[in-house]
This record gives sequence, structure tokens and C-alpha cells, in this order.
Amino acid sequence: MEEPPWRNLQPNIPTPFGSPHKGTPAPPVRLTPVKVLVIGSGAREHALCHSLSHDPDVTALHCAPGNAGIAEVAELHQVDALDGAAVTALATQLGADLVVVGPEAPLVAGVADAVREAGIPVFGPSGQAAQLEGSKAFAKDVMAVAEVPTARSYVCTTLEEVDAALDAFGAPYVVKDDGLAAGKGVVVTDDLDAARAHAAACERVVIEEYLDGPEVSLFAVTDGETVVPLQPAQDFKRALDGDEGPNTGGMGAYSPLPWADPKLVDEVMQTVLQPTVDEMQRRGTPFSGLLYAGLAITSRGVRVIEFNARFGDPETQVVLARLKTPLAGVLMAAATGNLAHLEPLRWSDDAAVTVVVASHNYPGTPRTGDPITGLDEVAAQDAPHAYVLHAGTKRDGDAIVSAGGRVLSVTATGKDLAEARDRAYKAVGRIHLDGSQHRTDIAAKAAGVAGA
Ligand code: AMP
Ligand code: GLY
Repeated sequence: MEEPPWRNLQPNIPTPFGSPHKGTPAPPVRLTPVKVLVIGSGAREHALCHSLSHDPDVTALHCAPGNAGIAEVAELHQVDALDGAAVTALATQLGADLVVVGPEAPLVAGVADAVREAGIPVFGPSGQAAQLEGSKAFAKDVMAVAEVPTARSYVCTTLEEVDAALDAFGAPYVVKDDGLAAGKGVVVTDDLDAARAHAAACERVVIEEYLDGPEVSLFAVTDGETVVPLQPAQDFKRALDGDEGPNTGGMGAYSPLPWADPKLVDEVMQTVLQPTVDEMQRRGTPFSGLLYAGLAITSRGVRVIEFNARFGDPETQVVLARLKTPLAGVLMAAATGNLAHLEPLRWSDDAAVTVVVASHNYPGTPRTGDPITGLDEVAAQDAPHAYVLHAGTKRDGDAIVSAGGRVLSVTATGKDLAEARDRAYKAVGRIHLDGSQHRTDIAAKAAGVAGA
């Protein structure tokens, strides 16, 4: 087979699509058929594979390590996702034209660097650029230099520094583990002893002022220079209804946000996304892939709560449910430095809601190995408006069993949020997983209805 034209391209060099530099006339990016390898095993990766499996430009879809749901749309492979050499070897063996790295841990470990060095286009930042997520102190430094609005903060390594910072800001206290913690390293509390105890359990913490106001997740695809925002979504981070209970990786999401200012995306592009991407380029560590801005809409304006270096989970499930532009071309344009020539993204007017079904005891150590039933009924009765994206699942003989904390992400679309959430909860109601939990109020307020 003839080599695909982008096979040996690096970001930001002239390509068959034309020069990637801004202002240069060039034809829109066109994609010839591609083989894609997705790395990861969560519902986010299932959502990516779901979209890619419907993309006419994708001729072969592989995922490693994947899960029981992804196995229905992609060929699964075993790989240590944190091992750059192993991922590169798999991509080479499969003849992959594009590798998409889903989770943060492989990105921070430099897996995208290894794949890129082998000349294979990869969607995902370098290990150095992924420090925007990997170290909250690094992200704060980038934001300070780029003048991106965020909470005032102190980086602390001793208890004396911790006490001084907690005293300076007062309650509610916000204490963040500096490193990766799967969404569980942040404690927000009025209890001074709990704030001190969390700080004492971490090597280095960021202590910051409390940000009031609703949260928004805004994703942007970037090739290190051009930035293309996606549609905003809202995530539900707390485990229990009414935003009670501990922080989790995310218990549900919806998009669009009917309550948000229509100018929000433009504003965040100008004040947050483009300045951050420009600053990373200025430092010689360009950020390409998915830049996730976690925002608080405070009474004093938009503030960044955190950056992530990859698609959010579960927000990706609802954002991709609304994206009409075929996904592979978007990811390939970012991976090859061609986003300046991408046609504007097209979006469905439909709303989308996803409800996470989690194992007993999540976000503590989850109980696993329980059979999941009702998936066939959802497929038979609710498709195509509602469908189940798998996270921690695996096949055990004929059964599908739970294999992680967040187990399923039940996703639905509708003409508005009320219809989408009705469909999502109806599908959740057909599923049985012993001891499982889910929130009943996902998107309820935004849809103007009471919890399910
Ligand atoms: P992070 O891991 O930084 O996204 O934090 C997890 C969650 O903690 C966020 O989604 C917020 O709900 C909450 N949080 C983080 N930082 C702040 C802050 N400065 N003020 C209020 N809540 C925060
Ligand atoms: N939904 C939060 C995250 O992906 O970090």
C-alpha cells in the first residue's frame, strides 16, 4: 500500500495540505482513509472509538487495552499504555496512520513523544507539554506568565507554609496535590483540620483561593499554534446528588449550556486558550492535542480552575455526541500541524446528557467482578438516541462484569436537555449492576426539571 502523505510529518512543517502557518491560502484539509489506534480503556476512549467507527475516513480502528464495549467497534490489543516503546511497536505493527492517546498518565510519561519520534502522527502533547496537567504548580506558572485569569495560589512543601497559606485565604480551604491524582487530589473544605491533614499527606500542594460560581469544561483542539474550541460542557464532580460527597473523576455531564453567555467561548479563547498555547510555544514546548480548560464562572469573571492535557471524561461523551464533523480529520489536522486549514466544525443542535454508573464504594476502592445486565435491552429499545459507553468493564465468558470504579457512561441525545436526560435515565433504569450508584440530578437544573 502507498504510504499516506502525512506519514513522516512533524507539526508545523509545510505539508501536502499547504503551509500550516496562519494567513497562507491553502485548500481545506482532506483526509484519505486512515487506520487509527486509540490508547486507553475508559468511557472517553469508547466515545472516541464510537465517533471514529462512524467516520467514513477510518478504514481500521484499533484500541489498546480497551474494554468490553470498545471491543464491539474496534479491534483490541494488549499493551502497557505507559510504555512508549511498546505503544510505538504496536502502532508500527498495525500500520497505524494516527495514534490517539486518551488518558493523562501515558501523556505525562512521554508516550506521545515516543510515537512521534517514530514518524507516526499522534494526537496528544509531549511529556513536557502535558505538565500543564501533570503539575498544578507548572500550570500556575504558565498562567501567571501568560496572564491567564486563575485563582491566587501558593505552592507549599512544609506545614509552616501550608498554615500560612490557609490563614491567608481563609475558609473555604482549597488544597490540591501537585501531581496527578485522577481527579481525587483536591480537597475543598471549611474544616481547617481536614485541609491540614490533606496537605500533610501530600509531598507538595497548591493552596488557593476559593472560586465561587458554576463550572464549565471547555476543550480546544490545537496543533501547537492554531486553536479550535469545541462546545462547552458541564461535569458533575461530586459523588452524590446536590453536589454532596467526595470529588470523583466525574459522575455525569451535559452539553450545550443554555445558561451560559453566548460569548463565553470567544472570551475563553482570547483570555485563556490562545495565550496558553502561545506561551507553551514560546517556551519551546508547544502543546498539541487537546487542551482542556476547567473554568469557574465567578462574579468577578471567568477563572481557570485547572488545565488537563487530554479529553475530559465524562464531558467527551456529550461533546462528541454533538460533533457532526468527522472526527479523524480533526485529530489528524492537529497531529500534523494543519488546523489552520480545517473547515469550521459543524455541530448538531441536539442536546446530549451522560450519566455515569459507578461501582459500589467508588470513589473509594471499588468492588469489581459483578455482572452487568440490561445492556442488550438498551441497544434494542433505546438506540440510536441512547447508548451505553463502557468504562471499567470486561468480558467474563458470556457475561460482562464490572472492572473499575466508573463502569458505564449512559449517553443520550434529544431535541433539548429535558428529552436527552429522560432518555439517558430511562436507559440507566434498564441496567442492573449489584451495588452500583449513579446521580439522579445530572443536567436537571439546566433542563429546568427536578432530579429523576
Ligand atoms: P481540579 O482537580 O483542580 O479540577 O479540582 C477538582 C474540583 O475541585 C473542581 O472541579 C472544583 O469543583 C473544585 N475546586 C478546585 N479548585 C477550586 C477552587 N479554587 N475553588 C473552588 N473549588 C475548586
Ligand atoms: N471530568 C473531569 C476530567 O476529565 O478531569
